[in-house]
Amino acid sequence: MPNNCYISFFLSIQLLLSLQPKSYAQSTNQSNDDHQILLGLMKHWGRNSPALSRWSSTSAPHCNWGGVTCTNGAVTRISLSNQSFIKPIPASLCLLKNLTSLDLSYNNFSTSFPIALYNCSNLNYLDLSNNFFVGNLPDDINSLSAQLEHLNLSTNCFTGRIPPSIGWFLRLKSLLLDNNRFDGSYPAEGFGNLSSLQILTLANNLFDPVPVPWEFGKLRNLTYLWLSDMNITGEIPESLSNLTKLEVLDLSENWMQGTIPMWIWQLKKLKYLYLFDNNFTGEIADNITALDLVEIDLSSNKLTGTIPGDFGKLTNLTLLFLYQNQLCGSIPPSIGLLPNLYDIRLFNNMLSGALPSELGKHSPLANFEVGNNNLSGELPEGLCSNRKLYDIVVFNNSFSGKLPESLDGCYLLNNLMMFNNHFTGEFPKSLWSVVTNQLSVVMIQNNNFSGTFPTQLPWNFTQLDISNNRFSGPVPSLAGRMKIFRAANNMLSGEIPWDLTGISQVTDLDLSGNQITGPIPMTIGVLKGLNALNISGNQISGNIPAAFGFMSVLTILDLSSNALSGKIPKDFDKLRLSFLNLSMNQLSGEIPTSLQNETYDLRFNPGLCVSSNSSDHNFQICRARSDFSNVLSRRLITIFSVLASVMFLSSVAGFLILRRQKYRHDHQTWELTPFHALHFTEHGILSGLCEQNRIGSGRSGKVYCVHVMDEAGAGSMVAVKKIWNLQNLDGNLEKDFLAEVKILGEIRHTNVVKLLCCISSSEAKLLVYEYMENSSLDRWLHQREGIRVPAPLDWTTRLQIAIDSARGLCYMHHGCSPAIVHRDVKSANILLDSEFRAKVADFGLAQILLKAGELESVSAMCGTFGYMPPEYGYQRRVNEKIDVYGFGVVLLELTTGKVANGGGAEYCLAQWAWRQYQENGLSVDLLDEEIKDPAYNEDMLAVFTLALICTGGQPSMRPSMKNVLHALLRFDHR
Ligand SMILES: *[C@@H]1O[C@H](CO)[C@@H](O)[C@H](O)[C@H]1NC(C)=O
Ligand SMILES: *[C@@H]1O[C@H](CO)[C@@H](O)[C@H](O)[C@H]1NC(C)=O
Ligand SMILES: *[C@@H]1O[C@H](CO)[C@@H](O)[C@H](O)[C@H]1NC(C)=O
Repeated sequence: MPNNCYISFFLSIQLLLSLQPKSYAQSTNQSNDDHQILLGLMKHWGRNSPALSRWSSTSAPHCNWGGVTCTNGAVTRISLSNQSFIKPIPASLCLLKNLTSLDLSYNNFSTSFPIALYNCSNLNYLDLSNNFFVGNLPDDINSLSAQLEHLNLSTNCFTGRIPPSIGWFLRLKSLLLDNNRFDGSYPAEGFGNLSSLQILTLANNLFDPVPVPWEFGKLRNLTYLWLSDMNITGEIPESLSNLTKLEVLDLSENWMQGTIPMWIWQLKKLKYLYLFDNNFTGEIADNITALDLVEIDLSSNKLTGTIPGDFGKLTNLTLLFLYQNQLCGSIPPSIGLLPNLYDIRLFNNMLSGALPSELGKHSPLANFEVGNNNLSGELPEGLCSNRKLYDIVVFNNSFSGKLPESLDGCYLLNNLMMFNNHFTGEFPKSLWSVVTNQLSVVMIQNNNFSGTFPTQLPWNFTQLDISNNRFSGPVPSLAGRMKIFRAANNMLSGEIPWDLTGISQVTDLDLSGNQITGPIPMTIGVLKGLNALNISGNQISGNIPAAFGFMSVLTILDLSSNALSGKIPKDFDKLRLSFLNLSMNQLSGEIPTSLQNETYDLRFNPGLCVSSNSSDHNFQICRARSDFSNVLSRRLITIFSVLASVMFLSSVAGFLILRRQKYRHDHQTWELTPFHALHFTEHGILSGLCEQNRIGSGRSGKVYCVHVMDEAGAGSMVAVKKIWNLQNLDGNLEKDFLAEVKILGEIRHTNVVKLLCCISSSEAKLLVYEYMENSSLDRWLHQREGIRVPAPLDWTTRLQIAIDSARGLCYMHHGCSPAIVHRDVKSANILLDSEFRAKVADFGLAQILLKAGELESVSAMCGTFGYMPPEYGYQRRVNEKIDVYGFGVVLLELTTGKVANGGGAEYCLAQWAWRQYQENGLSVDLLDEEIKDPAYNEDMLAVFTLALICTGGQPSMRPSMKNVLHALLRFDHR
């Protein structure tokens, strides 16, 4: 028996020894207990925490479990921070007899103070910080282990006072109680007993307002004293001068007063001194021997006198904040020589004289703020020598001269506030550079800067104020995140950039007092967030766009002193303006009723009038005729909309009744032929055909973007193609034209741009199409002069666009009888809606125009250079395969990113692609640099190959659109 017993015991020991560290065997019993206790903890807190989920009863020995540390086989340390524990700390924890260190910080405990821990009698390290413990600290908190050296209760929700018994932990080296909700007293005497203390934090609590207890001066081993924002009053006690080991002294954000004592500047070990946000007065001593100082923040006090020259001795100084005081005199030149200074903030003082001439040359200066002083002279030449500067704030001083050359290439610069100084000279051009620029705020108003702008400003700008300077040249195109752009009273000329869609977030736009000409762009309507617009005092002409009616948050509008003409749009009735000035223009017609308001200024517009029943006597009464015509046109609109809804019903019933309505406009008779239920009138379209609404012009005519409104006042956009040179059509051709257009109008396919109606007169034809928000594909692929591609389309989007347009073409070729050939497939004819879904535009138009005799010359017939197949030109009869060729070129554009017809007559993308393929085969070098992605390279090369096949020389060898579509669908992995 005993033998067997011995053997089995021996075997099990052997087994354990082979698995565990050697020492384990010595305390097997304690170890077994510990093991069970840990399993109990795991059960209690649950296995969902990151560490406990890997604890297990079977695998590794518990001493290797995450968060567990053993000494001689017994658990001595538990470190389970950040485990999302919610359930209270269990009493069983203290059954771990040899536990000396416990870290449960960053969990979600929300009980009162865990007195269960009183039983952990060997604890010397306890960290319960960053939880949600509530209630008062217990009066008998000294029942915790007397061994305690480190107690961290910071960042919880403890309230009340701090009990005096806290002073009984005679071994305590660090005590952290900051960031709670203590609202009573703290035991000055108790703290005074903690003579071993090195770290003491009480900051950010709402303690009773008292001065710093003199007893804190007894804590001679303190290195770290954090007492900010705890309602301290009174002066800094003399006793603290005993704390000669202090490295960090933070008394900021209190109600302290008196002077900053001399001895502080002689604490030899002091590195960080924060006294900001108090009421300290007096001068800063100039006898500094605390030479290790790294950061000094004395901001927001009432300090007087000058900045001590001794600051220039602090070679470790990185940060110097003296802002918001009453300091005077000049900034000591020695500060410019400090080798580590990177952040200096001296704003809101009364400093005068020049800046240290060496500032920026010797240190990695990053932040420089001296606004609101009386400083003068030039900015130091080497301010950005080290290329680290991101903030220059020097506004409201008397600086003069040119900007330092070191700003050229200061490419981290983010914030430049120089307003209200006397700077002169040309503003450094490189700061407007699109490529490297980080600048987001530039406020340089009220100086004498000159210079011009690049066509396009960088994307990062959020605020730009150059008002009251001498900048000249054209108004730059604005881009990106711009919220505020003010350029009042400069010498800017040219037109307001047509495309304002890039700055749809702008809230404040001021271009007043320049020499700007041309119209107000129709795209002004996209500035949905615009609050204030001032373009007064220019030579802006044309009508006021109706689009203003949709700028719902516009409150300040000043268009005065320009050459605007025409009527004030009715839609002004919808605006809620607090300021309006339209005076000194050439506006005419009846003033909308809501604008007949004393507070608005409409004077000096000789043509403006009010209705006879108006009480406004500043304007003439409108003549009856205009009154009558107004009523008449309103009636016509009503009648028309009734008819339109009747028409809609009948088309639902299966008829498409072509109804022609006559309308007189400019002595022409216009006939409208609808193909869909319409929500606008021809009048709405015709009145929108002004130059400022033009979005393009092609061979056959101009294209306009017109804002139309339905009866309910809801607005939307349509695109109108005005075909010119058709005035000489004879009766038969005219009939043919309309018959052809009707065929196109009846086509309904998701990937073909809808032709809504045709409006024709003897002199012109208008084709009204649905409006596509994202314009045409070529805009997104190729940079046009001055207009940047908004952002490269990724491959998934490009493939979707290819598939969509292939579907459209496929339908026209194979779903219609007879097939409809496009004849001018190109990326400019593929339009994108708000979701980047593609539709083919201008279907069949070339054919119609050809028949109507519009396109006579061979070159016009040959489609667009770069997209026309070889057979074009000598073969007058063409078939669908010319569209396949054109589509192949579009696929080449999508994969290579190159333009179809870039450099001169020789270059042609299809030929280039064939040559590359023959010489070098398929290679990723062919693909668009912008979107290269190893995950898609193979697909892109396959589509490139498909494009080569589509652009083959022999029409008969090209695949049909059906085949092309099927091939493309294979790459669609979604
Ligand atoms: C654990 O603590 C007990 C007394 O509390 C002590 O006797 C024992 O030696 C300790 N074990 C280890 C491994 O330190
Ligand atoms: C203070 O620190 C010194 C050196 O670190 C140490 O010798 C001394 O015992 C400490 N004083 C107290 C009261 O703990
Ligand atoms: C600070 O002290 C004042 C009394 O001086 C007291 O009314 C206030 O509640 C205390 N706390 C804060 C946060 O000001």
